Amino acid sequence: MSKGKLRLGVNIDHVATVRNARGGAYPDPVRAARLAEEAGADGITAHLREDRRHISDADIEGLMAALTKPLNFEMAATEEMQRIALRHKPHAVCIVPEKREERTTEGGLEVAREENRLAHFIAPLREAGSRVSIFIAADQRQIEAAHRIGAEVIELHTGAYCDYHAEGKFAERDDELKRLTDMAAFADGLGLEVHAGHGLTYETVQPVAALPQIMELNIGHFLIGEAIFLGLADAIGEMRRLMDEARA
Ligand code: PXP
Repeated sequence: MSKGKLRLGVNIDHVATVRNARGGAYPDPVRAARLAEEAGADGITAHLREDRRHISDADIEGLMAALTKPLNFEMAATEEMQRIALRHKPHAVCIVPEKREERTTEGGLEVAREENRLAHFIAPLREAGSRVSIFIAADQRQIEAAHRIGAEVIELHTGAYCDYHAEGKFAERDDELKRLTDMAAFADGLGLEVHAGHGLTYETVQPVAALPQIMELNIGHFLIGEAIFLGLADAIGEMRRLMDEARA
């Protein structure tokens, strides 16, 4: 059974990417986040990367001060990021893997092999009141490990599903969607809240939005790109419409 309205978290990292292409202050990711809130986003996501290639420390300060909806703070499991999260105490912290040379977050976190370290890493974040989410592939071993370390939320990585779609590999795409479907149900059965995201577009969002256990989608790059053509509010409005249609 569906768990009701699917939340949309809008990731504003790539507003900062455009700003940083020239330095200076424009376009302002905080302004984009406020507009996204008004356009129907249920929350805002921002990833403070170790190399600060898009979102900056000042952006996180600005978002914490300006937002009226929850901030989902994406970060790698490093001491520096933990300190920053403990200072801001955002609504949610999503732990993602990070490699300096990657273009984007390429795979899910390897939780099973790092269970002990991650359990200790997330404990203070939870004590500070942040909901801890772990970004992982649709893999039963990783989901079980995320559950054991005390995460409340997992975010399933939809990147492979979206890549197969874009490459026209429809059999592989459908296999990956089946894994996402099965693992969303499995995680829900363990009592984890299930989110999903990465690479989603108007073409790929509906089969994921239709999975009844999924409670939140986090979408960024496509929406910021589409905003060039439609404006941010309309780009978000169309994504919202497709999500609601898939859910109905
Ligand atoms: N969820 C997580 C955990 C991510 O790391 C990202 C990318 O930063 C997204 C969702 C959004 O992905 P995209 O920008 O491709 O929509």
